[in-house]
Amino acid sequence: IMQWRRRYCCTRAVQVFYLLSLLGLVVFLVHQVWLPRLSGTPPWRGNPVVSMDKWNLSGQHSSWRLVSAPQVSSGVQANLSSHKKEGVFSARGSSSENTMATVPEAELGGGISPGPFSYTINEPDKCVQNGRAPFLVLLVATEARQVEARNAIRQTWGNESAVPAVGLIRLFLLGKTEGELGALQQRTLEAESQRYHDILQQDFLDSYRNLTVKTLMGMNWVALHCPRASYVMKTDSDMFVNTEYLVSKLLRPEIKPKKNYFTGNNMRGFGPNRNKNSKWYMPPEMYPDDKYPTFCSGTGYVFSGDLAAKIYGVSLSVRHLHLEDVYVGICLFKLGIEPTPPANAFLFNHWRVSYSSCKYSHLITSHGFQPNELLKYWHHLQSNKHNACVAKARARRARTPTAN
Ligand SMILES: *[C@@H]1O[C@H](CO)[C@@H](O)[C@H](O)[C@H]1NC(C)=O
Ligand SMILES: *[C@@H]1O[C@H](CO)[C@@H](O)[C@H](O)[C@H]1NC(C)=O
Ligand SMILES: *[C@@H]1O[C@H](CO)[C@@H](O)[C@H](O)[C@H]1NC(C)=O
Ligand SMILES: *[C@@H]1O[C@H](CO)[C@@H](O)[C@H](O)[C@H]1NC(C)=O
Repeated sequence: IMQWRRRYCCTRAVQVFYLLSLLGLVVFLVHQVWLPRLSGTPPWRGNPVVSMDKWNLSGQHSSWRLVSAPQVSSGVQANLSSHKKEGVFSARGSSSENTMATVPEAELGGGISPGPFSYTINEPDKCVQNGRAPFLVLLVATEARQVEARNAIRQTWGNESAVPAVGLIRLFLLGKTEGELGALQQRTLEAESQRYHDILQQDFLDSYRNLTVKTLMGMNWVALHCPRASYVMKTDSDMFVNTEYLVSKLLRPEIKPKKNYFTGNNMRGFGPNRNKNSKWYMPPEMYPDDKYPTFCSGTGYVFSGDLAAKIYGVSLSVRHLHLEDVYVGICLFKLGIEPTPPANAFLFNHWRVSYSSCKYSHLITSHGFQPNELLKYWHHLQSNKHNACVAKARARRARTPTAN
């Protein structure tokens, strides 16, 4: 009887395993076909002729949907530089040589002022509170109403003790909301600031089209109040960030901090979206060229602390574009700095990677999280981080029938 039972059980186990494999295959195929963003590498990567419109992704927020199909053509490339020489990006219409000359090295560090908009909530002493400049400053673009998202970030990847070995500071970037709702939100925000000391706000209208202003506020703050920070990351409030992996595997506190370093999800060879109905429409008057310089998706990019002052400095002579990540890319181009491609294509994801503790222990960003999901996945990852890649569940399932 024992033998019969054992054989029966084993057959059952094989059947269950077989069914699970089939199910896995089906799920995998469905993801491949319908959700290309889950497969890791965007399907158009390395395929310069694929049209973005084919992957109808207009429903979500992330920067790569603002662009049309990349066009590889040396003529366009030549025009990119010729336009730049004509000073297309310059608010003052002067040549690129001249605009570069208006930002002398000396002005980049010391001569920074708060800019056109004044700080209405500031944390000028945050950087020096622990006696030494932080290793990493997290700048998180957020809106006043996103209280839950901020609280989730405080408890998860933005926890300033998330990487005990290094100094980490977290700052949320906000503008102002108009009207009565705005006044109400302002009071809540001020209370939040009193409690957590992690809010930066300037006196500009908090709108999608002012995201560039918001990012520049973050750059300005680092340049003004925290110029010795080793690294800065700018990200959004609906992101999952593996802070520990970012610090230990990419930035590596044990080595000398880099200079002129900028990395993230590199968008190379992309051009403006000329569809007037698109949220990412770029009018030719604003940007006549067919291609953008390489930029990094605004969902999460990381740069050396010295660049905050340089980018802010050069931005004073580069006409504002509302697409924050493209704009920073143009500033880098004017500074002659090329973003560094990440070590692998899975580190910075501007789409949502399906969760597994194994995958999430080896990535830096994943996009599109509700606050409750962030808490759930973060805690799962923390409690599994030492055996994140052991397929515990499957092993247990396969063992259960024979054990009985
Ligand atoms: C893409 O999606 C948008 C809204 O999500 C829809 O209006 C549009 O018709 C879709 N386009 C195509 C080609 O499927
Ligand atoms: C380059 O720009 C000039 C005008 O500045 C235009 O006449 C020419 O057709 C453009 N060339 C290409 C290859 O786009
Ligand atoms: C941040 O992390 C520390 C150490 O793990 C923990 O004690 C603290 O409660 C966390 N803070 C929040 C706001 O969750
Ligand atoms: C950006 O903020 C400024 C200052 O509040 C405001 O005048 C402007 O209209 C805003 N721009 C957009 C496009 O919302």
